[in-house]
Amino acid sequence: MNKYATYWSGSKGVDRITPGGPEVPIYAQDAVFIQTWSKGRVCDFGCGTGRFSSLFTPDTYLGVDQNEEAINIACLIHPEFQFDCIGWMDGTVPPADTYLLYTVCLHIPDDSLSEFLSRFSNRIIIAECMEPRFRNNQFNNSRSKQDYIDCLCEHGFQLKAERTEQERPFTLLVFDQKEED
Ligand SMILES: C[S@@+](CC[C@H](N)C(=O)[O-])C[C@H]1O[C@@H](n2cnc3c(N)ncnc32)[C@H](O)[C@@H]1O
Repeated sequence: MNKYATYWSGSKGVDRITPGGPEVPIYAQDAVFIQTWSKGRVCDFGCGTGRFSSLFTPDTYLGVDQNEEAINIACLIHPEFQFDCIGWMDGTVPPADTYLLYTVCLHIPDDSLSEFLSRFSNRIIIAECMEPRFRNNQFNNSRSKQDYIDCLCEHGFQLKAERTEQERPFTLLVFDQKEED
């Protein structure tokens, strides 16, 4: 297990995922944006304790995370929704029309980012602080918006929509896979 996988699934359980408790409120503006841009079946990749499930219906939502304890809590507090535990760098991701990556990518190390993002298809929503000045090169690998645009462009995606918050350093990006000619 690499140091990232150990960090997220280690002895601290879910404290590192949801330090404010398992049901940290979702920012209202984020909820509106995510609901507006999600289509079809949604895979909440790195769902933690599943707080985003409430934005969807049970038949359109699947939450996955590599932290078994987080998945157990998600199943307990959102029993009507489906959650699965997956390995840290498992090569396959569940099929979906939209992948929600909410404060997940900034925890992927630089040398794994391209491989990590190459697994997704259709539509990807990346939501996190995109301020490289916050990088600590430990477990916070904050990148710029352009870093994600460049990386996903190489994998055949284009930027479809974006929102940067005025009152907090937080950005949401929507990417769509380009149609093949
Ligand atoms: C900061 S937490 C965010 C949790 C959730 N998205 C939320 O906002 O409440 C990051 C989550 O991503 C998960 N994660 C990070 N990298 C992952 C990977 N490669 N595979 C699966 N889960 C991953 C961690 O286990 C953790 O639950």
